[in-house]
Amino acid sequence: MQENTIYYEQNRFKLYKGDCIEVLKYMPENSVDLIFADPPYNLSNDGFTCHAGKRVSVNKGKWDKSRGVAEDFEFHKQWLAACKRVLKPDGSIWISGTYHSIYACGFAMQLLDYHFLNDICWFKPNAPPNLSCRFFTASHETLIWARKSRKGRHTFNYEMMKNGLWKEDILKKPGNQMRSVWAIGTPKRVEKVFGKHPTQKPESLLKRIIVASSNKGDLVLDPFSGSNTTGLISYLYGRNYIGIETEKEYLDLSIKRFETLKNNLQKKYTQPSLFEGVCESESEYIINGGL
Ligand SMILES: C[S@@+](CC[C@H](N)C(=O)[O-])C[C@H]1O[C@@H](n2cnc3c(N)ncnc32)[C@H](O)[C@@H]1O
Repeated sequence: MQENTIYYEQNRFKLYKGDCIEVLKYMPENSVDLIFADPPYNLSNDGFTCHAGKRVSVNKGKWDKSRGVAEDFEFHKQWLAACKRVLKPDGSIWISGTYHSIYACGFAMQLLDYHFLNDICWFKPNAPPNLSCRFFTASHETLIWARKSRKGRHTFNYEMMKNGLWKEDILKKPGNQMRSVWAIGTPKRVEKVFGKHPTQKPESLLKRIIVASSNKGDLVLDPFSGSNTTGLISYLYGRNYIGIETEKEYLDLSIKRFETLKNNLQKKYTQPSLFEGVCESESEYIINGGL
């Protein structure tokens, strides 16, 4: 891979700085077991939302501005094609988004011949209210889960989903199959002590995805790694990880979060076994140092 884009490297953990479409060109084909991608939502077009009871701009950053439907779609198609090339034949991919981006991603995936496995409704029980009172309050995101091809034999840790300790999910009944609607709150304050990313994903969400669809020793890739939630969970559960991100600010935040986790694992805690580890509060404690 292009060496000059490596921003940070540790055992089982690498961060690249750059445009994922470019960086992925240098990765070997058929080399990645699992991809989690949280691409720009293209919703930063000067609207308003509610944060902590206040009216605030929806703008997340330049990287999130829409360049028009056609250009946004072309971008999604290009990064999805780059991801497909590096995915192993039995590998799978998750994409998260709202209606601003998820349909474009879904259509691009159909054109690229990905094989859909599920679409998950991530319901946020603590979603902020809608201030305009002119339509329903947005309280979910959609996650598409797909494998590289129809013939692939993707990983699904069914027992762990069914019998794990998913205590924080008000919709998951112990011992019942895991369904496709997940109730998971937005990131807790403790997950943002080193700084904030405007679209940071909760650790609990990534834990469920990574534990469900990969195994220890697998290689997990996040082409839009942001604050690096995917990297923390991958490392904690014994996976190898590659993250790609354009913004230095978020890469530096990622490193702070990772080094805290690494220190906590070395000094205070041991890596949880997979079954014990699916308890949300336990891994939150290890990652964030029990803050
Ligand atoms: C929706 S956010 C991801 C947030 C992340 N899941 C987290 O938990 O923090 C998308 C990220 O992709 C980055 N980005 C945008 N375009 C990119 C590109 N072409 N290649 C790599 N990263 C990009 C942005 O800087 C932003 O941090």
